[in-house]
Amino acid sequence: MNERVKIMDGAVSPAPANMRKVFVKTYGCQMNVYDSQRMADALGADGYVETASLDDADMVLLNTCHIREKAAEKVYSELGRLRKLRDERQASGSDMLIGVAGCVAQAEGEEIIRRAPVVDFVIGPQTYHRLPQVVSRARRGDKVVETDYAIEDKFDKLPERDERQLRARGVTAFLTVQEGCDKFCTFCVVPYTRGAEVSRPVTQIVAEARKLAESGVREVTLLGQNVNAWHGEGPDGSEWGLGRLLRELAEIDGLDRLRYTTSHPRDMDEDLIAAHRDLGALMPYLHLPVQAGSDRILKAMNRKHTGDEYRRLVDRIRAARPDIALSGDFIDGFPGETDVDFEDTMRLIADIGYAQAFSFKYSPRPGTPGADLKDQVPEQVKNERLYRLQSLLGKQQADFMNGLIGKTISVLLEKPGREPGQIVGRSPWLQPAVCDENVGKIGDIVSVRITRTSANSLIADNRKVDTEA
Ligand code: 5AD
Ligand code: SF4
Repeated sequence: MNERVKIMDGAVSPAPANMRKVFVKTYGCQMNVYDSQRMADALGADGYVETASLDDADMVLLNTCHIREKAAEKVYSELGRLRKLRDERQASGSDMLIGVAGCVAQAEGEEIIRRAPVVDFVIGPQTYHRLPQVVSRARRGDKVVETDYAIEDKFDKLPERDERQLRARGVTAFLTVQEGCDKFCTFCVVPYTRGAEVSRPVTQIVAEARKLAESGVREVTLLGQNVNAWHGEGPDGSEWGLGRLLRELAEIDGLDRLRYTTSHPRDMDEDLIAAHRDLGALMPYLHLPVQAGSDRILKAMNRKHTGDEYRRLVDRIRAARPDIALSGDFIDGFPGETDVDFEDTMRLIADIGYAQAFSFKYSPRPGTPGADLKDQVPEQVKNERLYRLQSLLGKQQADFMNGLIGKTISVLLEKPGREPGQIVGRSPWLQPAVCDENVGKIGDIVSVRITRTSANSLIADNRKVDTEA
Protein backbone atom coordinates (compact mmCIF):
# COMPACT_ATOMS: atom_id res chain seq x y z
CA MET A 1 0.00 0.00 0.00
CA ASN A 2 1.39 3.33 -0.86
CA GLU A 3 2.02 5.64 2.05
CA ARG A 4 2.82 9.29 2.34
CA VAL A 5 3.38 9.89 6.08
CA LYS A 6 1.71 13.19 6.12
CA ILE A 7 -1.37 14.31 7.86
CA MET A 8 -4.38 14.54 5.64
CA ASP A 9 -7.10 17.02 6.51
CA GLY A 10 -10.54 15.87 5.54
CA ALA A 11 -13.37 18.27 4.75
CA VAL A 12 -15.21 18.81 8.00
CA SER A 13 -18.36 20.89 8.30
CA PRO A 14 -18.78 23.05 11.44
CA ALA A 15 -20.11 21.07 14.41
CA PRO A 16 -23.42 22.03 16.09
CA ALA A 17 -22.64 23.37 19.59
CA ASN A 18 -24.68 20.86 21.61
CA MET A 19 -23.22 17.64 20.15
CA ARG A 20 -20.16 15.71 21.27
CA LYS A 21 -17.25 16.37 18.97
CA VAL A 22 -14.50 14.10 17.68
CA PHE A 23 -11.24 15.30 16.18
CA VAL A 24 -9.73 12.66 13.89
CA LYS A 25 -6.11 12.95 12.86
CA THR A 26 -4.99 10.68 10.03
CA TYR A 27 -1.45 9.54 9.35
CA GLY A 28 -0.18 7.49 6.45
CA CYS A 29 -1.82 6.00 3.41
CA GLN A 30 -5.07 6.61 1.55
CA MET A 31 -6.63 3.58 3.22
CA ASN A 32 -6.26 5.35 6.55
CA VAL A 33 -8.02 8.38 5.08
CA TYR A 34 -10.89 6.11 4.02
CA ASP A 35 -10.93 4.35 7.40
CA SER A 36 -11.01 7.68 9.24
CA GLN A 37 -14.11 8.66 7.29
CA ARG A 38 -15.82 5.35 8.04
CA MET A 39 -14.93 5.68 11.75
CA ALA A 40 -16.25 9.24 11.85
CA ASP A 41 -19.47 7.98 10.23
CA ALA A 42 -19.74 5.15 12.80
CA LEU A 43 -19.31 7.66 15.61
CA GLY A 44 -21.86 9.93 13.91
CA ALA A 45 -24.48 7.22 14.35
CA ASP A 46 -23.52 7.34 18.04
CA GLY A 47 -24.06 11.08 18.45
CA TYR A 48 -20.62 12.47 17.61
CA VAL A 49 -19.88 15.05 14.95
CA GLU A 50 -16.47 15.65 13.47
CA THR A 51 -14.64 18.83 14.35
CA ALA A 52 -11.63 20.37 12.63
CA SER A 53 -10.43 21.95 15.86
CA LEU A 54 -8.64 20.18 18.68
CA ASP A 55 -9.71 22.90 21.10
CA ASP A 56 -13.38 21.99 21.20
CA ALA A 57 -12.94 18.20 20.82
CA ASP A 58 -14.50 15.83 23.38
CA MET A 59 -12.58 12.97 21.80
CA VAL A 60 -9.33 12.77 19.82
CA LEU A 61 -8.78 9.77 17.60
CA LEU A 62 -5.36 9.20 16.05
CA ASN A 63 -5.47 6.93 13.02
CA THR A 64 -1.88 5.79 12.85
CA CYS A 65 0.75 4.41 10.46
CA HIS A 66 3.42 1.82 11.31
CA ILE A 67 5.16 1.43 7.96
CA ARG A 68 8.46 3.05 8.99
CA GLU A 69 9.90 3.86 12.40
CA LYS A 70 9.52 7.61 11.92
CA ALA A 71 5.81 7.26 11.16
CA ALA A 72 5.20 5.25 14.34
CA GLU A 73 7.23 7.61 16.53
CA LYS A 74 5.14 10.58 15.41
CA VAL A 75 2.21 9.06 17.26
CA TYR A 76 4.04 9.07 20.59
CA SER A 77 5.12 12.71 20.12
CA GLU A 78 1.51 13.62 19.43
CA LEU A 79 0.36 11.71 22.52
CA GLY A 80 2.86 13.72 24.57
CA ARG A 81 1.25 16.94 23.34
CA LEU A 82 -2.23 15.58 24.00
CA ARG A 83 -1.28 14.68 27.58
CA LYS A 84 -0.54 18.36 28.26
CA LEU A 85 -3.81 19.43 26.64
CA ARG A 86 -5.74 16.92 28.70
CA ASP A 87 -4.05 18.07 31.92
CA GLU A 88 -5.17 21.63 31.14
CA ARG A 89 -8.70 20.41 30.43
CA GLN A 90 -8.87 18.49 33.67
CA ALA A 91 -7.49 21.47 35.62
CA SER A 92 -10.38 23.53 34.26
CA GLY A 93 -12.95 20.87 35.21
CA SER A 94 -13.61 19.27 31.79
CA ASP A 95 -12.09 16.25 30.03
CA MET A 96 -11.57 14.49 26.73
CA LEU A 97 -11.18 10.90 25.52
CA ILE A 98 -8.09 9.83 23.59
CA GLY A 99 -8.09 6.84 21.24
CA VAL A 100 -5.45 5.28 19.00
CA ALA A 101 -6.57 3.41 15.87
CA GLY A 102 -4.77 2.10 12.78
CA CYS A 103 -1.61 0.08 12.28
CA VAL A 104 0.35 1.24 15.37
CA ALA A 105 -2.72 0.22 17.41
CA GLN A 106 -2.69 -3.21 15.79
CA ALA A 107 1.07 -3.71 16.11
CA GLU A 108 1.58 -2.42 19.63
CA GLY A 109 -1.80 -3.02 21.35
CA GLU A 110 -1.71 -2.51 25.09
CA GLU A 111 1.94 -1.44 24.94
CA ILE A 112 0.56 1.93 23.79
CA ILE A 113 -1.36 2.40 27.03
CA ARG A 114 1.68 1.30 29.03
CA ARG A 115 3.89 3.82 27.24
CA ALA A 116 1.25 6.57 27.07
CA PRO A 117 -1.25 6.11 29.93
CA VAL A 118 -3.18 9.15 28.64
CA VAL A 119 -4.68 6.82 26.00
CA ASP A 120 -8.18 5.51 26.85
CA PHE A 121 -8.64 3.03 24.04
CA VAL A 122 -6.74 1.25 21.29
CA ILE A 123 -8.59 -0.16 18.27
CA GLY A 124 -7.16 -2.12 15.34
CA PRO A 125 -8.22 -1.70 11.69
CA GLN A 126 -10.33 -4.88 11.57
CA THR A 127 -12.72 -3.86 14.37
CA TYR A 128 -13.77 -0.29 13.54
CA HIS A 129 -17.42 -1.33 13.51
CA ARG A 130 -17.07 -1.93 17.28
CA LEU A 131 -15.95 1.65 17.88
CA PRO A 132 -19.22 2.86 19.50
CA GLN A 133 -19.09 0.04 22.12
CA VAL A 134 -15.38 0.65 22.71
CA VAL A 135 -16.01 4.37 23.22
CA SER A 136 -18.88 3.80 25.60
CA ARG A 137 -16.73 1.48 27.74
CA ALA A 138 -13.92 4.04 27.68
CA ARG A 139 -16.37 6.75 28.76
CA ARG A 140 -17.22 4.63 31.82
CA GLY A 141 -13.53 4.71 32.73
CA ASP A 142 -12.27 1.36 31.34
CA LYS A 143 -9.01 1.18 29.41
CA VAL A 144 -9.96 -0.77 26.27
CA VAL A 145 -7.75 -2.64 23.80
CA GLU A 146 -9.65 -4.05 20.81
CA THR A 147 -7.18 -5.56 18.38
CA ASP A 148 -8.42 -9.11 17.76
CA TYR A 149 -9.20 -9.85 14.15
CA ALA A 150 -12.98 -9.84 13.93
CA ILE A 151 -14.68 -12.94 12.50
CA GLU A 152 -17.55 -10.84 11.18
CA ASP A 153 -17.20 -8.52 8.17
CA LYS A 154 -16.71 -5.00 9.47
CA PHE A 155 -18.09 -3.53 6.24
CA ASP A 156 -21.35 -5.38 6.80
CA LYS A 157 -21.61 -3.93 10.30
CA LEU A 158 -20.50 -0.35 9.66
CA PRO A 159 -23.39 2.10 9.15
CA GLU A 160 -24.25 2.85 5.53
CA ARG A 161 -22.47 5.87 4.16
CA ASP A 162 -24.36 9.09 4.73
CA GLU A 163 -25.13 11.14 1.63
CA ARG A 164 -24.78 14.47 3.42
CA GLN A 165 -21.32 13.55 4.71
CA LEU A 166 -20.26 12.25 1.32
CA ARG A 167 -21.34 15.47 -0.38
CA ALA A 168 -19.36 17.50 2.16
CA ARG A 169 -16.25 15.48 1.34
CA GLY A 170 -16.17 16.46 -2.30
CA VAL A 171 -16.13 15.04 -5.81
CA THR A 172 -13.36 12.47 -5.39
CA ALA A 173 -13.52 9.52 -3.02
CA PHE A 174 -11.66 6.43 -1.90
CA LEU A 175 -13.30 3.03 -1.78
CA THR A 176 -11.54 0.12 -0.09
CA VAL A 177 -12.08 -3.09 -2.10
CA GLN A 178 -9.34 -5.25 -0.64
CA GLU A 179 -7.42 -5.34 2.62
CA GLY A 180 -4.36 -7.15 3.91
CA CYS A 181 -1.49 -8.79 2.12
CA ASP A 182 -0.15 -12.31 1.64
CA LYS A 183 3.05 -11.31 -0.17
CA PHE A 184 5.32 -10.96 2.89
CA CYS A 185 7.99 -8.73 1.40
CA THR A 186 10.74 -9.05 3.99
CA PHE A 187 10.86 -5.31 4.82
CA CYS A 188 7.13 -4.77 5.28
CA VAL A 189 4.86 -4.75 8.35
CA VAL A 190 1.60 -4.73 6.39
CA PRO A 191 0.93 -8.51 6.47
CA TYR A 192 1.24 -8.32 10.27
CA THR A 193 -0.77 -5.14 10.89
CA ARG A 194 -3.47 -5.56 8.25
CA GLY A 195 -3.57 -9.34 8.19
CA ALA A 196 -4.25 -11.79 5.36
CA GLU A 197 -5.60 -10.70 1.98
CA VAL A 198 -9.38 -10.27 1.96
CA SER A 199 -11.49 -9.05 -0.97
CA ARG A 200 -14.82 -7.32 -0.44
CA PRO A 201 -17.71 -8.87 -2.40
CA VAL A 202 -18.75 -7.41 -5.77
CA THR A 203 -22.27 -6.48 -4.62
CA GLN A 204 -20.97 -4.51 -1.62
CA ILE A 205 -18.46 -2.60 -3.76
CA VAL A 206 -20.93 -1.81 -6.54
CA ALA A 207 -23.53 -0.61 -4.02
CA GLU A 208 -21.00 1.68 -2.33
CA ALA A 209 -19.77 3.03 -5.68
CA ARG A 210 -23.38 3.79 -6.72
CA LYS A 211 -23.95 5.61 -3.45
CA LEU A 212 -20.81 7.67 -4.04
CA ALA A 213 -21.95 8.57 -7.56
CA GLU A 214 -25.43 9.53 -6.28
CA SER A 215 -23.71 11.78 -3.74
CA GLY A 216 -21.91 13.77 -6.41
CA VAL A 217 -18.62 11.86 -6.53
CA ARG A 218 -17.11 11.78 -10.03
CA GLU A 219 -13.80 10.06 -9.39
CA VAL A 220 -13.34 6.92 -7.30
CA THR A 221 -9.99 5.41 -6.33
CA LEU A 222 -10.25 1.75 -5.40
CA LEU A 223 -7.95 0.94 -2.52
CA GLY A 224 -6.19 -2.17 -1.35
CA GLN A 225 -2.77 -2.99 0.07
CA ASN A 226 -2.61 -5.34 -2.88
CA VAL A 227 -5.52 -4.01 -4.86
CA ASN A 228 -4.87 -5.91 -8.07
CA ALA A 229 -5.05 -9.21 -6.16
CA TRP A 230 -8.73 -8.38 -5.62
CA HIS A 231 -11.04 -11.16 -6.77
CA GLY A 232 -14.65 -12.02 -6.15
CA GLU A 233 -17.67 -13.88 -7.39
CA GLY A 234 -19.65 -11.96 -10.02
CA PRO A 235 -23.47 -11.98 -10.19
CA ASP A 236 -23.26 -14.80 -12.77
CA GLY A 237 -21.27 -16.99 -10.38
CA SER A 238 -18.00 -16.63 -12.30
CA GLU A 239 -14.76 -15.47 -10.69
CA TRP A 240 -14.01 -11.79 -11.35
CA GLY A 241 -10.64 -10.06 -11.17
CA LEU A 242 -10.01 -6.34 -10.81
CA GLY A 243 -10.26 -5.71 -14.59
CA ARG A 244 -13.80 -7.12 -14.67
CA LEU A 245 -14.76 -5.11 -11.58
CA LEU A 246 -13.49 -1.91 -13.20
CA ARG A 247 -15.57 -2.64 -16.29
CA GLU A 248 -18.65 -2.93 -14.08
CA LEU A 249 -17.92 0.28 -12.18
CA ALA A 250 -17.28 2.18 -15.42
CA GLU A 251 -20.97 1.58 -16.27
CA ILE A 252 -22.20 3.57 -13.26
CA ASP A 253 -23.70 6.90 -14.28
CA GLY A 254 -21.69 9.84 -13.03
CA LEU A 255 -18.50 7.90 -12.25
CA ASP A 256 -16.35 9.43 -14.94
CA ARG A 257 -12.96 8.61 -13.53
CA LEU A 258 -11.61 5.45 -11.94
CA ARG A 259 -8.24 4.72 -10.38
CA TYR A 260 -6.81 1.97 -8.19
CA THR A 261 -3.86 1.65 -5.88
CA THR A 262 -1.54 -0.05 -4.81
CA SER A 263 -0.67 -2.84 -7.23
CA HIS A 264 1.89 -5.63 -7.08
CA PRO A 265 3.67 -6.45 -10.36
CA ARG A 266 2.88 -10.16 -9.94
CA ASP A 267 -0.87 -9.51 -9.95
CA MET A 268 -1.14 -7.40 -13.14
CA ASP A 269 -3.13 -9.90 -15.21
CA GLU A 270 -4.04 -9.66 -18.91
CA ASP A 271 -7.62 -8.56 -18.27
CA LEU A 272 -6.50 -5.70 -16.03
CA ILE A 273 -4.01 -4.56 -18.67
CA ALA A 274 -6.77 -4.81 -21.30
CA ALA A 275 -9.05 -2.68 -19.08
CA HIS A 276 -6.48 0.12 -19.44
CA ARG A 277 -6.84 -0.22 -23.21
CA ASP A 278 -10.65 -0.42 -23.24
CA LEU A 279 -11.95 1.88 -20.51
CA GLY A 280 -11.95 5.64 -21.07
CA ALA A 281 -12.93 6.10 -17.41
CA LEU A 282 -9.84 4.28 -16.19
CA MET A 283 -7.28 7.04 -15.75
CA PRO A 284 -3.90 6.58 -17.47
CA TYR A 285 -1.94 6.37 -14.23
CA LEU A 286 -0.57 3.33 -12.49
CA HIS A 287 1.23 3.10 -9.17
CA LEU A 288 3.33 -0.03 -9.58
CA PRO A 289 6.07 -0.24 -6.96
CA VAL A 290 9.21 -2.18 -7.85
CA GLN A 291 11.22 -1.22 -4.71
CA ALA A 292 14.66 -2.04 -6.15
CA GLY A 293 16.42 -2.87 -9.42
CA SER A 294 18.89 -5.55 -8.38
CA ASP A 295 17.69 -9.14 -8.77
CA ARG A 296 19.73 -10.17 -5.74
CA ILE A 297 18.03 -7.55 -3.56
CA LEU A 298 14.59 -8.21 -5.07
CA LYS A 299 15.05 -11.85 -4.09
CA ALA A 300 16.16 -10.92 -0.56
CA MET A 301 13.08 -8.68 -0.38
CA ASN A 302 10.91 -11.66 -1.43
CA ARG A 303 9.38 -9.58 -4.22
CA LYS A 304 8.88 -12.63 -6.46
CA HIS A 305 9.91 -10.82 -9.67
CA THR A 306 13.12 -9.70 -11.31
CA GLY A 307 14.02 -6.30 -12.72
CA ASP A 308 13.60 -7.54 -16.30
CA GLU A 309 10.21 -9.12 -15.58
CA TYR A 310 9.11 -5.72 -14.32
CA ARG A 311 10.49 -4.00 -17.44
CA ARG A 312 8.62 -6.43 -19.73
CA LEU A 313 5.43 -5.93 -17.75
CA VAL A 314 5.69 -2.17 -18.14
CA ASP A 315 6.20 -2.66 -21.90
CA ARG A 316 2.94 -4.63 -22.08
CA ILE A 317 1.04 -2.04 -20.07
CA ARG A 318 2.39 0.77 -22.27
CA ALA A 319 1.45 -1.15 -25.40
CA ALA A 320 -2.14 -1.27 -24.10
CA ARG A 321 -2.25 2.37 -22.97
CA PRO A 322 0.59 4.42 -24.50
CA ASP A 323 -0.14 7.60 -22.51
CA ILE A 324 -0.05 5.84 -19.13
CA ALA A 325 2.01 7.52 -16.41
CA LEU A 326 3.96 5.19 -14.16
CA SER A 327 4.51 5.77 -10.49
CA GLY A 328 6.60 3.71 -8.09
CA ASP A 329 7.97 3.18 -4.61
CA PHE A 330 11.69 2.62 -3.96
CA ILE A 331 13.65 1.52 -0.93
CA ASP A 332 17.38 2.10 -0.72
CA GLY A 333 19.74 0.52 1.77
CA PHE A 334 17.98 -2.81 2.22
CA PRO A 335 20.39 -5.09 4.17
CA GLY A 336 23.25 -6.27 1.96
CA GLU A 337 22.65 -3.66 -0.78
CA THR A 338 26.03 -2.91 -2.39
CA ASP A 339 26.94 0.04 -4.62
CA VAL A 340 26.49 -2.28 -7.62
CA ASP A 341 22.99 -3.27 -6.47
CA PHE A 342 22.08 0.36 -5.99
CA GLU A 343 23.28 1.23 -9.50
CA ASP A 344 20.90 -1.47 -10.79
CA THR A 345 18.04 0.48 -9.16
CA MET A 346 19.22 3.72 -10.78
CA ARG A 347 19.39 1.94 -14.15
CA LEU A 348 15.91 0.52 -13.82
CA ILE A 349 14.55 3.98 -13.02
CA ALA A 350 16.33 5.41 -16.05
CA ASP A 351 14.90 2.62 -18.25
CA ILE A 352 11.30 3.01 -17.07
CA GLY A 353 10.90 6.78 -16.68
CA TYR A 354 8.51 7.58 -13.85
CA ALA A 355 6.01 10.42 -13.79
CA GLN A 356 5.95 10.31 -10.02
CA ALA A 357 7.63 8.24 -7.33
CA PHE A 358 8.16 7.84 -3.61
CA SER A 359 11.48 6.76 -2.20
CA PHE A 360 12.50 5.80 1.29
CA LYS A 361 15.51 4.71 3.28
CA TYR A 362 15.14 1.17 4.52
CA SER A 363 13.75 1.25 8.06
CA PRO A 364 14.08 -2.04 9.97
CA ARG A 365 10.66 -2.97 11.35
CA PRO A 366 10.48 -5.22 14.41
CA GLY A 367 9.03 -8.62 13.59
CA THR A 368 9.84 -8.53 9.87
CA PRO A 369 12.56 -10.84 8.46
CA GLY A 370 14.59 -7.89 7.11
CA ALA A 371 15.15 -6.48 10.58
CA ASP A 372 17.15 -9.57 11.60
CA LEU A 373 19.41 -9.66 8.55
CA LYS A 374 23.11 -9.04 8.93
CA ASP A 375 24.76 -6.41 6.73
CA GLN A 376 22.47 -3.54 7.68
CA VAL A 377 23.57 -0.57 5.57
CA PRO A 378 25.06 2.42 7.46
CA GLU A 379 22.78 5.44 7.81
CA GLN A 380 25.13 7.74 5.93
CA VAL A 381 25.22 5.41 2.90
CA LYS A 382 21.41 5.19 2.96
CA ASN A 383 21.21 8.99 3.03
CA GLU A 384 23.59 9.39 0.08
CA ARG A 385 21.70 6.81 -1.97
CA LEU A 386 18.35 8.40 -1.10
CA TYR A 387 19.64 11.75 -2.28
CA ARG A 388 20.64 10.25 -5.63
CA LEU A 389 17.34 8.39 -5.97
CA GLN A 390 15.33 11.50 -5.25
CA SER A 391 17.38 13.67 -7.61
CA LEU A 392 16.78 11.29 -10.52
CA LEU A 393 13.11 10.71 -9.71
CA GLY A 394 12.56 14.45 -9.18
CA LYS A 395 14.06 15.16 -12.60
CA GLN A 396 11.85 12.54 -14.25
CA GLN A 397 8.79 14.04 -12.57
CA ALA A 398 9.72 17.55 -13.76
CA ASP A 399 10.32 16.22 -17.31
CA PHE A 400 6.90 14.55 -17.32
CA MET A 401 5.16 17.70 -16.14
CA ASN A 402 7.05 19.98 -18.50
CA GLY A 403 6.04 17.65 -21.33
CA LEU A 404 2.45 18.73 -20.71
CA ILE A 405 3.17 22.43 -21.33
CA GLY A 406 1.25 23.60 -24.39
CA LYS A 407 -1.08 20.56 -24.29
CA THR A 408 -4.82 20.66 -23.74
CA ILE A 409 -5.80 18.23 -21.01
CA SER A 410 -8.92 17.30 -19.08
CA VAL A 411 -9.14 18.36 -15.47
CA LEU A 412 -11.67 17.37 -12.81
CA LEU A 413 -12.24 20.51 -10.74
CA GLU A 414 -12.06 19.67 -7.02
CA LYS A 415 -11.72 22.70 -4.77
CA PRO A 416 -11.03 26.42 -4.59
CA GLY A 417 -7.37 27.35 -5.07
CA ARG A 418 -5.11 29.02 -2.53
CA GLU A 419 -5.32 32.39 -4.26
CA PRO A 420 -8.60 34.20 -4.93
CA GLY A 421 -9.87 33.56 -8.44
CA GLN A 422 -8.33 30.07 -8.64
CA ILE A 423 -9.89 26.64 -8.79
CA VAL A 424 -7.82 23.46 -8.48
CA GLY A 425 -8.39 20.11 -10.11
CA ARG A 426 -6.50 16.97 -11.12
CA SER A 427 -5.07 15.95 -14.43
CA PRO A 428 -5.66 12.37 -15.68
CA TRP A 429 -2.08 11.70 -14.49
CA LEU A 430 -2.86 12.88 -10.96
CA GLN A 431 -1.03 16.20 -10.88
CA PRO A 432 -2.91 19.12 -9.31
CA ALA A 433 -3.87 21.62 -12.01
CA VAL A 434 -4.38 25.23 -10.96
CA CYS A 435 -7.01 26.90 -13.16
CA ASP A 436 -8.86 30.19 -13.40
CA GLU A 437 -12.18 29.92 -11.56
CA ASN A 438 -14.02 30.94 -14.71
CA VAL A 439 -13.25 27.60 -16.39
CA GLY A 440 -16.00 25.84 -14.45
CA LYS A 441 -17.32 24.76 -11.08
CA ILE A 442 -16.34 22.02 -8.65
CA GLY A 443 -17.31 18.65 -10.11
CA ASP A 444 -16.93 19.75 -13.74
CA ILE A 445 -14.46 18.01 -16.02
CA VAL A 446 -13.05 20.71 -18.25
CA SER A 447 -10.44 20.96 -20.98
CA VAL A 448 -7.71 23.48 -20.26
CA ARG A 449 -4.37 24.32 -21.82
CA ILE A 450 -1.29 23.97 -19.63
CA THR A 451 1.01 26.97 -19.88
CA ARG A 452 3.61 26.29 -17.18
CA THR A 453 4.40 24.22 -14.11
CA SER A 454 5.30 24.95 -10.52
CA ALA A 455 7.07 22.51 -8.17
CA ASN A 456 4.23 19.98 -8.00
CA SER A 457 1.39 21.53 -10.01
CA LEU A 458 0.38 22.25 -13.54
CA ILE A 459 -0.76 25.80 -14.23
CA ALA A 460 -3.49 26.23 -16.84
CA ASP A 461 -4.36 29.06 -19.16
CA ASN A 462 -7.27 31.15 -17.93
CA ARG A 463 -9.53 29.99 -20.73
CA LYS A 464 -11.53 26.82 -21.04
CA VAL A 465 -10.76 24.96 -24.25
CA ASP A 466 -13.48 23.06 -26.09
CA THR A 467 -11.53 20.21 -27.55
CA GLU A 468 -9.75 17.58 -25.49
CA ALA A 469 -6.27 16.23 -26.10
N1 5AD B 1 11.43 0.74 5.15
C1 5AD B 1 11.35 1.67 4.17
N2 5AD B 1 10.30 1.75 3.33
C2 5AD B 1 9.32 0.86 3.47
N3 5AD B 1 8.19 0.69 2.78
C3 5AD B 1 7.51 -0.35 3.32
N4 5AD B 1 8.20 -0.86 4.35
C4 5AD B 1 9.33 -0.13 4.45
C5 5AD B 1 10.46 -0.18 5.31
N5 5AD B 1 10.56 -1.09 6.27
C6 5AD B 1 7.84 1.47 1.61
C7 5AD B 1 7.71 0.60 0.36
C8 5AD B 1 6.22 0.53 0.18
C9 5AD B 1 5.79 1.88 0.69
C10 5AD B 1 4.38 1.99 1.06
O1 5AD B 1 6.58 2.09 1.82
O2 5AD B 1 8.31 1.26 -0.71
O3 5AD B 1 5.83 0.32 -1.18
FE1 SF4 C 1 4.04 -4.83 1.98
FE2 SF4 C 1 4.98 -6.29 -0.07
FE3 SF4 C 1 2.43 -6.59 0.74
FE4 SF4 C 1 3.17 -4.33 -0.52
S1 SF4 C 1 3.17 -6.42 -1.42
S2 SF4 C 1 1.92 -4.49 1.34
S3 SF4 C 1 5.26 -4.07 0.23
S4 SF4 C 1 4.26 -7.10 1.92
